[in-house]
Amino acid sequence: MANTYDSYFSERLAQMQEAGHYRYFLDIERSASRFPELTYTDANGQRGTAINFCSNDYLGQTAHPEVIAAAQAALGQTGTGSGGTRNISGTTTYHSALEQAAARLVSKPAALLFNSSYLANQTVLATLGRQLPNCIILSDAENHASMIEGIRASRCEKHIFRHNDMAHLEALLGDLDVEMSKIIAFESVYSMSGTVAPIADIARLARQYGALTYCDEVHAVGLYGQHGAGWIQSVNQSDGIDLINGTFAKAFGVIGGFVAGSAAAIDFIRTHAEGFIFTTSLPPANCAAILRSMEVLRDDPTIIERFRANVRQLRQNLDAAGITYEGHDAHITRIVIGNSHRCKAITDRLLTEFGLYMQPINYPTVPKGQECIRIIVTARHNNEHIQYLVESLQEVLSNA
Ligand SMILES: Cc1ncc(COP(=O)(O)O)c(C=O)c1O
Repeated sequence: MANTYDSYFSERLAQMQEAGHYRYFLDIERSASRFPELTYTDANGQRGTAINFCSNDYLGQTAHPEVIAAAQAALGQTGTGSGGTRNISGTTTYHSALEQAAARLVSKPAALLFNSSYLANQTVLATLGRQLPNCIILSDAENHASMIEGIRASRCEKHIFRHNDMAHLEALLGDLDVEMSKIIAFESVYSMSGTVAPIADIARLARQYGALTYCDEVHAVGLYGQHGAGWIQSVNQSDGIDLINGTFAKAFGVIGGFVAGSAAAIDFIRTHAEGFIFTTSLPPANCAAILRSMEVLRDDPTIIERFRANVRQLRQNLDAAGITYEGHDAHITRIVIGNSHRCKAITDRLLTEFGLYMQPINYPTVPKGQECIRIIVTARHNNEHIQYLVESLQEVLSNA
């Protein structure tokens, strides 16, 4: 019987390979001191060195000596794990301090930690969709898989509005019964296209139609706003958006996620969300590292400034080289290739011949036809890295 299942799996995997959607991982030997340079072994067992241009370690905080020291000190004191769910011995002083710090960061009364931001999106939307009476969820067409899964699990009615299209959102809201509960779910900085949501317009429509707003700030916390408070705070909308989801895994350089909002909303989620309740809490040492990472970013604004300067430098160099890209207002820069095989061939060549690592972004991460090279510069890149990247892109793209 097992063979029958295995033949099914193998057949499906072969189809993915043929279509160019199969996922190949690059095995990386990560070095804190050398980041963004790395040593890798590829799927064929070939070893090489490269500069990483696709890491979400935006500020290099995974390797900040003070963050590492905070993790090491707490690790020695508390051990490797928390040993329990939040309800059953897994709430330590580190967890409580981090929840307070996260709430303060995004100017909300309360926050709740999750083991990842994916889990936070998935479980919070599923919980609210199930618990709010007659709930309908309105979801942006470019929302992350974690929100889509949460909405699916809520089993409530959903409507998808065209990406950032406020006229479409308003038309959908206008058709709904005023008595129904409504959630508008969206991202501030979209992870794949790099576009930015019209936050003030969404907040206005939510007020007008009585909807709750839920925003994923995963690619904005730590990077925008005061001390990395996020995009919402940078456009003065902290009061306009009800629930904010953020991650500690990208700009803050550790792991874990949070949701922040009113005291009542957070207490409700704390007592109803399965993905919060029934899982072992984050190791206390991780929480200690995140707390230190937040303090480092607050005390040293040059880290975020360097990151922004590098994003500007990359785009100036791309402009000068005549390379067409999509940049938008935030930091995610992408070059659309529009074909999965071509996209992989280009990134393979960049890796093996030029020592530049960018993972090809193919379906289903992006819709078919939108396959792209997504470039992430971090605070740890230097002008030589950026110049070399653009010269190499120029050569590879002109021959692709
Ligand atoms: C938009 C968005 N939301 C949520 C997540 C999940 O974040 P985490 O890595 O903390 O689970 C990601 C991950 O890349 C993302 O891009």
